[in-house]
Amino acid sequence: MLYFEVSDEGVPTYWVTHNADTIIGSSTMGFDFKDQSPLKSGLKIIGTSTQTIDETWEMPWGEQREVRNHFNELVVQLEETAAPNRKLNVHFKAYDDGVAFRYAFLEQQGVDSIIIMDEHTEFQLTGDHTTWWIPGDWDIYEHLYSTTRVSEIDAIAKRDHPNLAATYIPENAVNTPVTMRSEDGLHLSFHEANLTDYAGMTLEVDTETLKLTSGLVGSERSGYKVKRALPFSTPWRTIQISEDAAGLIDSKLIVNLNEPNQLGDVSWFEPKKYMGIWWEMHVEKGTWDYGMEMDENGVWQDTGKAHGRHSATTENTKRYIDFAAANNITGILVEGWNTGWERWIGFEDREGVFDFVTPYPDYDIEELAAYGKEKGVEIIMHHETSAAPRTYEQQLDAAYQLMKDLGMHSVKTGYVGELIPKGEYHHGQWMVNHYRKALETAAKYQVAINAHEPIKATGLRRTFPNAIAREGLRGQEFNAWATDGGNPPEHLPIVAFTRMLAGPIDFTPGVFDIDLPTKPNNQINTTLAQQLALYVVIYSPIQMACDLPESYEGQPALQFIRDVGVDWEQSKVLNGEVGDFVTIAREERETGNWFVGAITDENAREITINFDFLEAGKTYKALLYRDADDAHYQDNPEAVVIENMDITNDMTKTFNLAAGGGLAISLLLE
Ligand code: NOJ
Ligand code: CA
Repeated sequence: MLYFEVSDEGVPTYWVTHNADTIIGSSTMGFDFKDQSPLKSGLKIIGTSTQTIDETWEMPWGEQREVRNHFNELVVQLEETAAPNRKLNVHFKAYDDGVAFRYAFLEQQGVDSIIIMDEHTEFQLTGDHTTWWIPGDWDIYEHLYSTTRVSEIDAIAKRDHPNLAATYIPENAVNTPVTMRSEDGLHLSFHEANLTDYAGMTLEVDTETLKLTSGLVGSERSGYKVKRALPFSTPWRTIQISEDAAGLIDSKLIVNLNEPNQLGDVSWFEPKKYMGIWWEMHVEKGTWDYGMEMDENGVWQDTGKAHGRHSATTENTKRYIDFAAANNITGILVEGWNTGWERWIGFEDREGVFDFVTPYPDYDIEELAAYGKEKGVEIIMHHETSAAPRTYEQQLDAAYQLMKDLGMHSVKTGYVGELIPKGEYHHGQWMVNHYRKALETAAKYQVAINAHEPIKATGLRRTFPNAIAREGLRGQEFNAWATDGGNPPEHLPIVAFTRMLAGPIDFTPGVFDIDLPTKPNNQINTTLAQQLALYVVIYSPIQMACDLPESYEGQPALQFIRDVGVDWEQSKVLNGEVGDFVTIAREERETGNWFVGAITDENAREITINFDFLEAGKTYKALLYRDADDAHYQDNPEAVVIENMDITNDMTKTFNLAAGGGLAISLLLE
């Protein structure tokens, strides 16, 4: 239950209970502005209204087809008791799986727009909960999660990670979604929904009072957090609440708080599995750049310095297309196809460097688009902006027009590095608007975006389904080169209950050559069976099979990647604990086939699966991919056992997961 009152001093205050317990104590709301006095107190309630909505909507693709949106809404109209008698409405929504609220700024006499210096939305915790958090970095979400009590959160200690090309952690704050578990086992996750024309929100942590307070991402260029014309509404501030960890993943609160699909028919994009000219660069078997030189007019020239290690060649791309076509994989991402990579990282001046329409001399973009089409494989475009969004914006139309002409319907974008213009951050209002501009422009050309170094997902995929996926976490690539040894086995069992609550993840699973022969100091800290399980556990409508064709060649376990679905009728979280393990079952749309994925942290464990989610009376041909008895992520990660059996919905079975291990099952109807 959610309660709201205005205190004797006119301070807007809310609190939240669950059963008989207060789970968010008295918490206040308020704003500081540039040219106006703060709006924090001296308010009175001048009206309220309530309504109940219970509707169901359909996802064009997703974790499930139908989503129920059922909530009670309370709108509280506030007004200052003294001049200038400004008005502010607060909208509250109470769901079975959490609560949300947002502020609506109304028109004001003689004021067209307001400048917000900070928002003071409080979340007063009522216990020193166990918390899974990443620091409130204004530039990047690619941090490892820490597991500590609230009172022990120390984001400042995470500054200056050597593997991050841009990182800025000004306060002891965390990024969202941040997930917590109370002593009583209640799970809470704090986030935001519908982040539109506003700054991203971090949560500043008071380790003594256990209070979280919104800290908006700023800009040294503008000196403020948000500038908006009146009237407008802020993003929703959300708290997901669940008795068990699994319920957090089941919750559809974040998408429900967004507006319905504005793009209409989006059947031009189809969920897909894809391979890519990608991993070979991360494991240093090839390069993005070709060896060109920029002349004095800023034009890239082939001056005969090609070094011969360039990966995105016509020939190599055909090799990937052929392999994909033979293995039920319908997309090929090609990174390093365009000019500019000689100056993409480690340079201050990155404006005008990347060109999103000009291929390198050894890459025949037209021939490859046609070749792919012939084989049923679509090329996925790549636009690395090197954090120079103005250069990208100048070329958006031309870049997406080229894609349209070539029949390419999805692009992976990237924003590596410190932003140009200086003083802006990836998660501030200016960039929130850039990411949106890219999305809206892309939609006009029937292009879907998978953004890396993105703004966080806040459920906008409901409104703009072409926001298909994003990175926004420490992905697989860190396993190839992180100086700290890569992602520990607990990483993904945390991600499933934190980052994944925000939306689809381009994690890029599927490494088979786990010990990374070209990278003596790195390896993947999971077993091969876990790499398979990730296709089910981590949701995305695009799933990469990220390893090289030669790593998959002749591997029986590739059958799982061939078979696994990417678009789901329904999903069921069968069990899980944050940071320990999770098992998810998903039913593929159209076929009715089911797929199950289970992953564990560094601890081996037994999991029991009750197959009662299967359709009664049907026999499913199961292919099971499990860790061998002696498998271990450290010294025997590739030992996978594949078994066939018939499974029906009255069966329950127990499986062993190795340390860092997993289990993948396909359950196919004939
Ligand atoms: C960072 C992305 O996360 C990665 O996947 C990509 O290969 C590089 N940028 C280059 O664009
Ligand atoms: Ca990245």
